[in-house]
Amino acid sequence: MKPRILSGVQPTGNLHIGNYLGALKNWAKLQYDYESIFCIVDLHAITVYQDPAELRRKIDQTAALFIACGIDPKQSSVVVQSMVPGHAELAWLLTCVTPVGWLERMTQYKDKAAKQESVGTGLLCYPVLMAADILIYQANCVPVGDDQSQHLELTRDIAQRFNAAYGETFVMPETRLPTVGARVMGLDEPEKKMSKSAEGPNHSIGLLDPPSLIKKKIMRATTDSNPAVDFETMGPGVANLITIFQAFSGWDDASVKSHFSGLRYGDLKKNVVEAVVAGLEPIQHKYAEIVADPAYLRGVLRESAERVMPFANATVNLVKSRLGIYTAA
Ligand code: TYM
Repeated sequence: MKPRILSGVQPTGNLHIGNYLGALKNWAKLQYDYESIFCIVDLHAITVYQDPAELRRKIDQTAALFIACGIDPKQSSVVVQSMVPGHAELAWLLTCVTPVGWLERMTQYKDKAAKQESVGTGLLCYPVLMAADILIYQANCVPVGDDQSQHLELTRDIAQRFNAAYGETFVMPETRLPTVGARVMGLDEPEKKMSKSAEGPNHSIGLLDPPSLIKKKIMRATTDSNPAVDFETMGPGVANLITIFQAFSGWDDASVKSHFSGLRYGDLKKNVVEAVVAGLEPIQHKYAEIVADPAYLRGVLRESAERVMPFANATVNLVKSRLGIYTAA
């Protein structure tokens, strides 16, 4: 049997090249070596208020983008988290073995909580639901961007704590980061990670941005006071542009270094525009085909949920029996 991978994306904001290079591109490559489950984590999205109609639209859009980015639904399951009730049920069971101090230490929780007047309990418990997504499928490996590393350590801590208290139950999942693009930074603020919720018009490149907009955003990206690329002294903005180029082009380090050393920033940016536009063009083309056929997408989501449900239910039942409580009749 092949080892299993599980990963997920929240259906909020616009998916950007950070999501693609940090996660989706890697998933498309790994799916042939693993039994793969990729989730649209709508239960995570509602930890902060979402307009219901807009959320529904984003769930479908995110699923369509998974497929457009190369996830093959014949090979991999594309699962909407809320369609498999075991995720929420296991999250509760795990919440009961998770010390609140572990959750309060999470940096993403601290960042998000600092922006809210009243912090919902869901936001605090968010990483437990993430642990449930992973542990419910006994995933061996979780391909994510670097910002999720802390949540994955917590997942292992929760699994270990449960195993120690109730007997070997969960497989320990490994974190798998991409070699290039694990942390893509904002174009306007290269000290901050590119994020779906950031507001600046030139912060991120959306996977569905037209070429003219991609060009505009990259040409305005923050660089530094050097006139040209110097690998010894370059600032984070230039380093980020080079990372983006390298991740899209697939060039090795030596080729990137010899091509870009001494190149003026205007020319560097033109190279980056070309690589990004060429990389996103087939994704946008495939996306347009998928959304033209909503019945196809609904079929993929239904079949994927049906495929994974028996496994998810089996894990929930195992956990419940370990805890000494009743399983579903
Ligand atoms: P989310 O929706 O914020 O991001 C989805 C994926 O994109 C990666 N990513 C990035 N990678 C590189 N550079 C960036 N600037 C960047 N921004 C985002 C993220 O690391 C992630 O891999 N909590 C998760 C969703 C989730 C999940 C899971 C992931 C829920 N359950 C189970 C893995 C396994 C999140 O909010 O991702």
